[in-house]
Amino acid sequence: MSKSKRFQILNNRPVNRDGFIAEWPEAGFIAMHSPYDPKPSIKVVDGTITEIDGITRENFDFIDRFIADYTINASLVHFMDIPSVEIARKLTDINIARKEIIEIVSGITPAKITEVMNHLNVVEMMMAMQKMRARSIPATQAHITNVKDDPVQIAADSAEGALRGFAEEETTVGVARYAPLNAIALLIGSQVGRPGVLTQCAVEEATELVLGIRGFTTYAETMSVYGTEPVFVDGDDTPYSKAFLASAYASRGLKTRFTSGTGSEALMGAAQSKSMLYLEARCLYVAKGAGSQGIQNGSVSCIGITASVPSGIRAVLAENLIAATLDLEVASSNDQSFSHSDMRRTARTMLQFLPGTDFIFSGYAGEPNYDNLFAGSNFDAEDYDDYNILQRDMMVDGGLRPVSEDEVIRVRQEAGRAVQAVFRYLNLAEITDAQVEAVTYAHGSKDTLARDAAADIAAAESLMRRGLTGLDIVKALSETGYEHIAERVLNMLKQRINGDYMQTSAILDEDYKVVSAISAPNDYQGPGTGYRVGGQRWDEIKNIANVIDREGI
Ligand code: 5AD
Ligand code: CA
Repeated sequence: MSKSKRFQILNNRPVNRDGFIAEWPEAGFIAMHSPYDPKPSIKVVDGTITEIDGITRENFDFIDRFIADYTINASLVHFMDIPSVEIARKLTDINIARKEIIEIVSGITPAKITEVMNHLNVVEMMMAMQKMRARSIPATQAHITNVKDDPVQIAADSAEGALRGFAEEETTVGVARYAPLNAIALLIGSQVGRPGVLTQCAVEEATELVLGIRGFTTYAETMSVYGTEPVFVDGDDTPYSKAFLASAYASRGLKTRFTSGTGSEALMGAAQSKSMLYLEARCLYVAKGAGSQGIQNGSVSCIGITASVPSGIRAVLAENLIAATLDLEVASSNDQSFSHSDMRRTARTMLQFLPGTDFIFSGYAGEPNYDNLFAGSNFDAEDYDDYNILQRDMMVDGGLRPVSEDEVIRVRQEAGRAVQAVFRYLNLAEITDAQVEAVTYAHGSKDTLARDAAADIAAAESLMRRGLTGLDIVKALSETGYEHIAERVLNMLKQRINGDYMQTSAILDEDYKVVSAISAPNDYQGPGTGYRVGGQRWDEIKNIANVIDREGI
């Protein structure tokens, strides 16, 4: 107990409930620059890369080898001769175009790009991110879960989330066997809220792939990669197995991205004394080499570790920026909660919110955090108004919009009823009118009615056993009076055939038009260029509730 009253007050502030760790490079508790990080180097013999960052080919681990063979462009390694500080300056220079940076980075090594990042402060990184993100218009992603695995609430929360502007929505499970039901509730609910929203069910890899192949989901993202061999092996994986998994999704026309993030190797006890950022650079090079269009990164579920060390939050932005310089779509974390301090969690988010990334959040909780099965998110459903007002205050497009209570009630109810109709038609589990009604007006699962868990699990199993697919959902909707929703779900399935939404950074607008790095490339090069908030979008952002206008005075 402090003697000073000042210190007593300070000690009781939320930020002092957070955990902080002193730098300890031998164990990997060091954000961006370990004394044991390798010096950048490269050697090419007859077109084959024979040395990377001080390691020769006969001593390569499988990560070095994968990067040497599939990621670094052996004909561009002369870019290693540009001093790192010069590359850092080019990143912040509005006169240097994005594509010039992409070319340079395709010829340099993980240790080199890490050295580049170490020359940048966070404002410089934000300037660079504004130029380097792949898609011109930023977007954001939601987590849609609840502790009961209640499919009716998933449908309603995803409909509301879609209406509020999320371009992607992701669910997961409390109990693994519910996965198929959660996936179809999310698919249907999202399309009620706004046609074209992409959906995902993050579960064990084989199940997730099957759900995708069945047409119950429209993208996948948790193909995890790691920066040291022992951590990869711990997960029974290699860069090659992950590349194979990515190809399996691609063969069925599904959008995917990989996942990685600083802190995982230290957390798994196998950081090999390297900095978190250097190891994350290796992950990003693996994702690139495996042909992924994008990455979910920014420490993600390891944020508790990265945020606990000095310069950790800066490292999170640095890893997002490295991904962008590799021409990857970036879903920039801001998901798992890491701090008790509202100031600290908001400040952390501003680093991606202000410059804009492809997905500022790779998991904003579209429900109260007590229902978030991804261990809680940095922002949740109780922060919607704060977020909308931050967009308005700073004239920044954070991907969301203000909505009216009437619209929200309408889409929540329609989503609940549509799922009720599909469940009845396909003879899954009973959803009562009272359950739909409760979910319509609920904040979270504390306000909803109990489900028959045994019946829901039996329904999930029957959905899989009977071989039902996305087309059965379309049929069920269309035969029960929900033709307009049937058409939307069918349009999502069609994306798998034309495949355009597998391009880098693709999302769909409400007419299912692909908005991607190909159709809407980021062309920012300083004032007067690039995406700017204006016109209709600005009117939408300005239109918050509780404003005093001249009529009201
Ligand atoms: N590194 C690799 N994968 C991660 N995930 C989350 N954080 C990381 C990270 N730092 C993946 C895991 C997890 C899912 C939510 O995202 O696969 O299960
Ligand atoms: Ca996510």
